[in-house]
Amino acid sequence: MGGAGLQVIDRPAALVEWSDAQRTAGKQVALVPTMGALHAGHLALITEARKHADVVIVSIFVNPLQFNRRDDFEAYPRPIDDDIEICRGSAVDAVYAPLASTMYPVGFQTHVEPGALADVLDGPSRPGHFRGVTTVVAKLFGAARPHVAVFGQKDFQQLAIIRRMVSDLNMSIEIVGVPTVREPDGLALSSRNRRLSVEQRAAAICVPNALAAIAEAAGTEPEVAKLQAIGQAIIEAEPLARWEQLEIVDPDTLQSLSTIEGRALAVTAVWFGEVRLIDNRLLG
Ligand code: PAJ
Repeated sequence: MGGAGLQVIDRPAALVEWSDAQRTAGKQVALVPTMGALHAGHLALITEARKHADVVIVSIFVNPLQFNRRDDFEAYPRPIDDDIEICRGSAVDAVYAPLASTMYPVGFQTHVEPGALADVLDGPSRPGHFRGVTTVVAKLFGAARPHVAVFGQKDFQQLAIIRRMVSDLNMSIEIVGVPTVREPDGLALSSRNRRLSVEQRAAAICVPNALAAIAEAAGTEPEVAKLQAIGQAIIEAEPLARWEQLEIVDPDTLQSLSTIEGRALAVTAVWFGEVRLIDNRLLG
């Protein structure tokens, strides 16, 4: 596959045309939406996409609509040339890298409003974030016209909201979730890890460590308050970490649990300086 070489496309109309040509040729089309600064987590998505389709489109777009802090948007890494080379080396068929002025031209005014799944966990602390995600993903789906789209379970709430959007809006796109790819010490790969100092990077293992301790304790302890205290103590013992959120929720509704009865998901957000890291882990 992909023998024709990598296409780099920056206009929606050109992507529609490219994708329609693939469909007409009988090919299954997969889309992997990203904000670039590609790492092994993104590559796992590309590998999974290849299993579900004949051609793979990777979109690279740092979406201003989903950033609620300007400094975070501006500091977000944008190594576009490296990213294109990584895609070339990964047998990606097309990279879609539009400009913000192309995605949101003067007069742009339509948004996709998510529901209750966006009102919990990261929702309240990041106003407008998930509305920005659903809007940009709907636009990417409109231009790429994929049969399949692949997302990481690292952003569990995002994945749940996108599944809901596709179902609610009858988008008839298969959504595939991929397990979180981690560093050898357990830290989830993230483009934001690049912004950690050496000391903060070392400290950040308290995040997977806290989730692992909760998962282990959950084998015998069903009380969520006690499990939260176990995880929180591990994060609070790290002087460079500022704990924001550590919740145990129902993985389908994302509503908080007080006792674990069936499946449960531990979700956390922790700050290291100006960098906010998120992670999650299924329990039981
Ligand atoms: P970004 O943070 O670049 O992530 C792109 C995709 O890679 C997401 O589906 C994310 O869950 C997945 N991903 C990130 N780190 C991962 C890891 N360690 N293991 C597995 N998958 C991982 O998420 C976004 O961009 C944006 O919100 C986007 C969906 C592109 C909309 O703008």
